[in-house]
Amino acid sequence: MPDTREITVTVNGSAYTEVVETRFSLADFLRQTLGLTGTHLGCEHGVCGACTILMDEDAVRSCLTLAVQADGASITTVEGLANEDGSLHPIQDAFRKHHGLQCGFCTPGMLISLAAFLRDTPNPDESAVRAAISGNICRCTGYQQIVDAAANINAAGRS
Ligand code: FES
Ligand code: FES
Repeated sequence: MPDTREITVTVNGSAYTEVVETRFSLADFLRQTLGLTGTHLGCEHGVCGACTILMDEDAVRSCLTLAVQADGASITTVEGLANEDGSLHPIQDAFRKHHGLQCGFCTPGMLISLAAFLRDTPNPDESAVRAAISGNICRCTGYQQIVDAAANINAAGRS
């Protein structure tokens, strides 16, 4: 019999109480138990950053976090990044304007990492943005459009 625990986690503002195996990762809990497949799994060992989510406001790798470690925590996934009225989060809007994605596989992790970074660093220069996403791998964009989006976020809504 696998070892199980009951956990209660708030995800994107909704509380969930579930019984999970203690070996279950937070990424698998979000994707398989809650059906929130916006959190992507690339490497599953902490390298690519695709699985990044906010846990109590900190950007963390959900592939390296056990679901039981999230008991009592508040989680934000990419599905919860937009505003309640459906309008985009500023970094989502900036990605749209600056073409910050191609295949989109890295995008949830990029958006979450940058949302946390920009919350603490509202007007970053390009080198600070590059440092902030140094733990997120993108195979498609060459990173420049992503950096442009984050470095020009305060101009993202202007034409
Ligand atoms: S899937 Fe978690 S860091 Fe790659
Ligand atoms: S847009 Fe394809 S991996 Fe980043």
